Amino acid sequence: MKLAISGKGGVGKTTVAAGLALLYASKGYRVWAIDADPDANLGWALGYSDEELAKQIPLVNLKEEIEARIGRGPFFSINPRVDDLLEKNSLEKENMNYIKMGGVKEGGSSCYCPENALLRAVLSNLLFDRQDVVIMDMAAGIEHLTRGTARGVDAMFIVVEPGRTSINTARTIIELAKDLGLEKVGILGNKVRSPREKELIESSLQEIVWGYLPYAEEIQEMGFKPVACYPKTFLEVLGEISQEWDLAAKG
Ligand SMILES: Nc1ncnc2c1ncn2[C@@H]1O[C@H](COP(=O)(O)OP(=O)(O)OP(=O)(O)O)[C@@H](O)[C@H]1O
Ligand SMILES: [Mg+2]
Repeated sequence: MKLAISGKGGVGKTTVAAGLALLYASKGYRVWAIDADPDANLGWALGYSDEELAKQIPLVNLKEEIEARIGRGPFFSINPRVDDLLEKNSLEKENMNYIKMGGVKEGGSSCYCPENALLRAVLSNLLFDRQDVVIMDMAAGIEHLTRGTARGVDAMFIVVEPGRTSINTARTIIELAKDLGLEKVGILGNKVRSPREKELIESSLQEIVWGYLPYAEEIQEMGFKPVACYPKTFLEVLGEISQEWDLAAKG
């Protein structure tokens, strides 16, 4: 199953993506954690060290090698494998491969189109086992929401925090996702501190809220520590939500 995590900037996409990746890995699934945000942070949130992360080669650097296998434009090969390239260039730890897409927007350029195209190509050419889980931490906003990306994922979690702006972004993403034919779209309320905040999200986006994650001081504190350490309650809530999501994905 391939799951994309999107939402407005700063709402907690990377935190949620890392939490889900660690959770599924601990359950024995093989997890591909893909950092699709050019401003990459997922590796750090997964607990890889600065030394490990500094050595990692972003996938955009392998663009030519990947395109040589999967072809461009009308010249697509049938079922080309890119798994070995991804494995070789990912950081591994128990049940998990962390892959960084990379990409730098050049001055004057308006989008990450080449990177998005590469992500699409990689997603549609990775051959998965039933027990594989792909979790993609997307860049903030809506630029990545293209027909190709939507085709490549089974479901999308939209993270919102209590506040009008992230709720408005979520609405835009929901509409776009609908237009793109993505059926399984769920909201995850994050950083919720009170029933009032929960109510704000519930009343604005009620029909598809899959769950709520509490505001946790320990998560803020992680920014000051060399290791990622998620509070148990946070992972427990994610576990409950992921069960809902499993059901939704099957349904
Ligand atoms: N449940 C939570 N409780 C407390 N702090 C949180 C929670 N979730 C995320 N944060 C904090 O909010 C900040 C933003 O989180 P994160 O980097 O995951 O967001 P993001 O959506 O990936 O941001 P960006 O758009 O910059 O990629 C971080 O400082 C993180 O520690
Ligand atoms: Mg992020």
